[in-house]
This record gives sequence, C-alpha cells and structure tokens, in this order.
Amino acid sequence: MSTDGADNNRRRFLVAATSVVGAVGVVGAAVPFLASWWPSARAQAAGAPVEADISKLEPGAKLTVEWRGKPVWIVNRTKATLDNLPKLDDRLRDPHSEVDQQPPYAKNEYRSRKPEYLVCVGICTHLGCSPTYRPEIGPADLGADWLGGFFCPCHGSRFDLAGRVFKGVPAPTNLVVPPYTYLTETRILIGKDGGAA
Ligand code: FES
Repeated sequence: MSTDGADNNRRRFLVAATSVVGAVGVVGAAVPFLASWWPSARAQAAGAPVEADISKLEPGAKLTVEWRGKPVWIVNRTKATLDNLPKLDDRLRDPHSEVDQQPPYAKNEYRSRKPEYLVCVGICTHLGCSPTYRPEIGPADLGADWLGGFFCPCHGSRFDLAGRVFKGVPAPTNLVVPPYTYLTETRILIGKDGGAA
C-alpha cells in the first residue's frame, strides 16, 4: 500500500508489485512455520478481497492498493472537488455512468458509496497504462480549464476525479469502479461489495 501525490506509471507499478511478490517468496521459503500464511497470499493473488486503511488519508491525497494484480486508487476528495464534478458533465463522454463500469451502488454523480472517497481501478480503459494523478487546478500542461483528475501519459486520455472519461480522448469508457464495501469508517474491503450501500 502506498500514498502518493504524483502517480507512477503502470510499468513502475508492475515492477514494484513483482518485487513484493519476490520478497514474500523468500520469507515463505526461509521460515516454514509461516506456511499457514501462504494460503492468504495465494488467495490474494487469485483475487481475494484486500483491505485498505484510510484513517491517514488526508483530503486531496490518494492511496494505492493492489487487488488482482491491479492498482486500485482511493482518493479522499475535498468539498471543492465534489462541487466541481457537476460542472464537467458537458465535457464528458459518459457523465452519468451509463456504461457498465461500476457496481450499482456507485452509479451516482460521485461514482462511489461515500461522496468523499473515490475508489477505482487505476488502469486506463484505452490500452491499459496507469494514468497519473493530477489533482491541481489549471496546470500549464493540462490547461486552464483542468479541474483536477487523472491524465494518461500513453496517449493523452483524461479522466475527472470521479474517473469519468472526457470526450475526444482515446479511452472509450470511464475508469472501472471495483466492488467494495466499508468494514468500518476507516477500513474499506476491495473486491467484495457487501450489498447495497
Ligand atoms: S492507454 Fe491510456 S490513453 Fe492509451
């Protein structure tokens, strides 16, 4: 799990993920009495749910966890961010999440169970790069009308801070929202939806 302001690209993520798996392998081989720990690691690799602790996630910050070998982002959205989302609707390809890229409980204006926390898979829906997190307003390289979002460096796709794709970019659909549920106020279980919100 990591917190970052400027995101890594997908390649770097995969390298990091491979390193973690390698380290797990060494520990498991050297300490046999930890064998009971292995089913959990194997189950995780096969797609078991993963927990994320958001107790230290500051407003505006993003946390990345790995689920099924993919980065899953959790963003603590500020009130200003939430207020800006409706202003973008005219510039988005699927502002109301008509395409099936999210569970039913995330098919709303925030694409999330709780407005302040976005949870989405950090993989571009064009060809699978990992977009960078660009929460700033009007940066020189993205333009004065940029209100924060995700920018894919591979072919220039843009997404807002609800993971909704802009018109006129290569990515065809919004970022995917995985199934998830809140175990407590500060712990999210990713990979299991736990029913309606
Ligand atoms: S992979 Fe993201 S724009 Fe092509």
